[in-house]
Amino acid sequence: MNHLIDITDFSVEELKDLLDSALDIIKNPEKYQEKCKHKKLATLFFEPSTRTRLSFEAAMYELGGNVIGFSDGASSSATKGESIADTAKIVSNYADIIAMRSPKEGAALVASLNSSIPVINAGDGGHCHPTQTLADLLTIYREKGTFDNLTVGLCGDLKYGRTVHSLIAALSRYKGIKLVLISPKELRIPANVLEDIIIPNKMEYIEVENLEENISNLDVLYMTRIQRERFTDMNEYERLKNSYVLDVNKMNKAPSKMIVLHPLPRVNEISVKVDSDPRALYFKQALNGKYIRMALILKLLSEKDKVTKFSFENNKLLYNKYKCNNPKCICQTEQELEQISKIVDEKNNVVRCIYCEQRTN
Ligand code: CP
Repeated sequence: MNHLIDITDFSVEELKDLLDSALDIIKNPEKYQEKCKHKKLATLFFEPSTRTRLSFEAAMYELGGNVIGFSDGASSSATKGESIADTAKIVSNYADIIAMRSPKEGAALVASLNSSIPVINAGDGGHCHPTQTLADLLTIYREKGTFDNLTVGLCGDLKYGRTVHSLIAALSRYKGIKLVLISPKELRIPANVLEDIIIPNKMEYIEVENLEENISNLDVLYMTRIQRERFTDMNEYERLKNSYVLDVNKMNKAPSKMIVLHPLPRVNEISVKVDSDPRALYFKQALNGKYIRMALILKLLSEKDKVTKFSFENNKLLYNKYKCNNPKCICQTEQELEQISKIVDEKNNVVRCIYCEQRTN
């Protein structure tokens, strides 16, 4: 079974094919109107969403398919204690493909390991959000025509912003990418992204705090919201919530060809006055999200027999040797879930939980 749990589940060639498929859908929508006739997408959303859920649902309807599911875990049997694994097994009987969002990190991986239909990770806590990355990549591709040699500024909450983690993983496979990581010290990029992706892939990067001083060097500025729902200390959130506001003055210092992306929702980190700037592409990015999700549904439904990249044989796994201490990890709540860690760096003895990718040793 093929799934999309992490953006690197797809090779660079597969991503290119997916982007080209989305471009063809944009050009020839009528060709795709019945491609998913009699197919059902299940949207299982245990966490709020506007763009991801509705664009998935619109995507399936525009492919001629149908949608079942829930937009609030409180209306599902999860409230009675049903596990993610059991939910995935049950929904496999009713639908052809699942898109799942959960606040638990690793939830989509657990679902995929228990599902007999393709599972798409529509966001798992602060961990990753690969379909947002597909929307980001399509937007960059349509504007720049390439990913190579771009200087990409990522600004805001780089610690909890799952879209940032997935975007960096995607960009790590292209040539000459430079990352400008702009955040307060408290919200810097997590160790697993730095140590497992940026450093081993020899990505050029700097970590800075000031947006204004760095904006003039960027090809892409990716703004993010400070993720209130992920903070355990609300005083810290209150202190950091207004760290960055992209306004007209700052845009005046940016290159004329720089593009501004944001996964949205926006709170106050981009002034609404910036919306009319032709470089502001975040609303187009949300529309691109629908097209790329159409391409993704078609791809996964046509490859049901293909085995996903995550394979127990291909990883150096340790069973029940270490315990994951991340309170947001799916392993803290899922019934009888084995504690599995993967060795990601033998030389430096780095071992991580397979579900949330936090260190377990
Ligand atoms: N970008 C994104 O994931 O938006 P939603 O939370 O509205 O789905």
